[in-house]
Amino acid sequence: MTVEGTAEFAGWVDQFVWLMINLRPRNIIQSKFAMVYQNFSQGAQWLPFTPNRSFGQDPRVFVAADGMYFTTYDGRRVIDGISSLWCVGAGHNRREINEAIKHQLDTLDYSTAFNASNDRAFEAAERITALAPGDLNKVLFCSSGSEAADTSLKMALAYHRARGEGHRTVFIGRERGYHGVGFGGMSVGGIPANRKMFGSALLPRVDHLSFTHDPAHAYYNGEPESDHDLLVELEQRILPLHDPSNVAAIIVEPVAGSAGWYVPPKGYLKRLREICDRHGILLIFDEVITGFGRMGTAFGADFYGVVPDMLNFAKCVTNGVIPMGGVICRQSVYDAVMDAHANSPAHAIELFHGYTYSGHPVACAAAIATLNVLRDEELFQRAAQIGKLLGDAMHNRLKGLPHVISIRTLGLAGAVELSSLPGLVGKRAYDVYLECFQQGVLVRSAGENLVLAPAYIVNAEQIAQMVDVLAGAIRKHA
Ligand SMILES: Cc1ncc(COP(=O)(O)O)c(C=O)c1O
Repeated sequence: MTVEGTAEFAGWVDQFVWLMINLRPRNIIQSKFAMVYQNFSQGAQWLPFTPNRSFGQDPRVFVAADGMYFTTYDGRRVIDGISSLWCVGAGHNRREINEAIKHQLDTLDYSTAFNASNDRAFEAAERITALAPGDLNKVLFCSSGSEAADTSLKMALAYHRARGEGHRTVFIGRERGYHGVGFGGMSVGGIPANRKMFGSALLPRVDHLSFTHDPAHAYYNGEPESDHDLLVELEQRILPLHDPSNVAAIIVEPVAGSAGWYVPPKGYLKRLREICDRHGILLIFDEVITGFGRMGTAFGADFYGVVPDMLNFAKCVTNGVIPMGGVICRQSVYDAVMDAHANSPAHAIELFHGYTYSGHPVACAAAIATLNVLRDEELFQRAAQIGKLLGDAMHNRLKGLPHVISIRTLGLAGAVELSSLPGLVGKRAYDVYLECFQQGVLVRSAGENLVLAPAYIVNAEQIAQMVDVLAGAIRKHA
């Protein structure tokens, strides 16, 4: 065949495929995409936090999304039960956010982040700090939750050093905490599998608070009780061991999200704040999941009435559409670092830290538009209201099902935990996850937990569908 002939033939093939897709005979669409995906395991992409070897046998590949729903490559409709990794608070394909991004691309696509900035970054910082509690009013932008974690740890070191307490270098995280995958965040994180392979490269001088879950209070719809004061260990063992004067910061998620929505017992975070205050230790809230509405409030800090010294965010700030993260710090943290340079020459940089994409104008435009949508549609309030429905549905429909050992709900999120198959931790939940997907519902499996965390626009019918499918899948894999 000539070159022209080949091109013509390819054109016909394209037209044929287009016709087939639009006429939607599923088997033909599948075979077209099967060509692309059947050899997935030999493909170029290495999927993160995914069992790559088995993925190719049953690829879960999305090609479109709108509102609460995805379309998969094989033409199926799947409801997004987890806001796509807790990101898409306002639902998919929001016109207002898309338009803001397009407009920004046509106006200022990118500008350097160092020694200069852009108008959108200033506006986004104003909007974000206006929402933040207390005097959390300075933002350093980055592009992910992992970067936010490392930024906050470095800020803590810079703060103490600036005040003449450079010996404060101990960090305290919490077992089962998740702060991303950078070396700092991984070190203060407490999910064993995430640390196992990288042990020798973890930060030194890091300790961990105990996991907060109390099996005696395994079912809760709201804040759990606890029979123990979990922070006695901090006061009586961890702090004396390191000496409080050496501790830079304690970092916790208000609710442990990635591990599987483990809510701390009543009063825990307030007491943690008091202990930090007593010893001059900075308190960092990692609100990458709890920020921007998941708890029915702007931040977890608002829900708990506790103001941290730094607050890390990402995910929902841009509705997941463009990567963005950041650390909001108290005025006093910022001032300390600036004051230390009171006598430095004007050209001296105060904090040697930042990213090429800090305050990226397109990400900032997406954030501003997202905050508008969240405000105009009162989506924090909606998350609080509809969250009650989700909590009730999960407890009513899932409690008592085979192998269910815990149900934990708060805000617009909930987890159901299953007992493990002998020697196969996580397998049962993973099978349930796959089954839910087959039935058109994307849930998240985390260890032996199945998590639901839908967008704030979810309705009662969709909640019922998600919980019903989850119930059916748990029964099937009993
Ligand atoms: C609390 C928390 N911190 C940090 C991260 C890491 O964020 P990223 O994956 O954007 O680096 C996550 C991600 O889920 C998270 O839940």
